[in-house]
Amino acid sequence: MNSKLLNETIKNRRATPPRFLAKKEVPKETIQQLLENANWAPNHKKTEPWRFKVYTGETKQKLANKIYSFLIEKIKSGETINPQKAEKFKTNLERVPVAIAIILQRDLAERIPEWEEIAAVSMAVQNMWLTATEMGLGAFWATQQFMPLLHEILELKHGQKALGFFYIGEIALDYPSPGRGNITDKVQWIE
Ligand SMILES: Cc1cc2nc3c(=O)[nH]c(=O)nc-3n(C[C@H](O)[C@H](O)[C@H](O)COP(=O)(O)O)c2cc1C
Repeated sequence: MNSKLLNETIKNRRATPPRFLAKKEVPKETIQQLLENANWAPNHKKTEPWRFKVYTGETKQKLANKIYSFLIEKIKSGETINPQKAEKFKTNLERVPVAIAIILQRDLAERIPEWEEIAAVSMAVQNMWLTATEMGLGAFWATQQFMPLLHEILELKHGQKALGFFYIGEIALDYPSPGRGNITDKVQWIE
């Protein structure tokens, strides 16, 4: 990849909301390539703290139903969850062709701070996101306030935390870029 292409890919990467993704299957090999690139993210002490659970088709539908009924029960028992958000989450899971649970696996000996491992997982996600962009696919990282409640449903193991879902699909409609403020406002050259 030449640097001009990389510059373009970085700028063209968009958070494409689920409703802007096409309801069309993504080939398994494509998902595998994204995951392979995720696996090359930098990480401290070789902890490789990223874990992913890939849901498509029927398993995704089952997950959507399970999470939705679980959240409704939680709401009934007084948990402060916005019912509209629960509904939207279900609709989004149903709509997107691929939903990948982004999971942090803490180093069990906790040799490095958690933030470094979250940083490594985020870099793995960015690798997937840029690869998806290169392939002309749309992607979206969705985080939910109720994510910590999903520990059991996602069958997380000791030291694991869910950091949201990564949605992938073909782009049905381009989502406009929110743009960025000027980099010069964020940089101080110490000369
Ligand atoms: C860790 C993380 C979590 C995010 N969670 C959400 C989310 O829950 N809902 C949402 O609308 N966007 C979410 N986003 C995407 C941002 O809204 C998006 O990146 C931002 O609007 C900039 O758009 P762009 O990425 O297309 O340039 C998340 C992004 C990151 C990095």
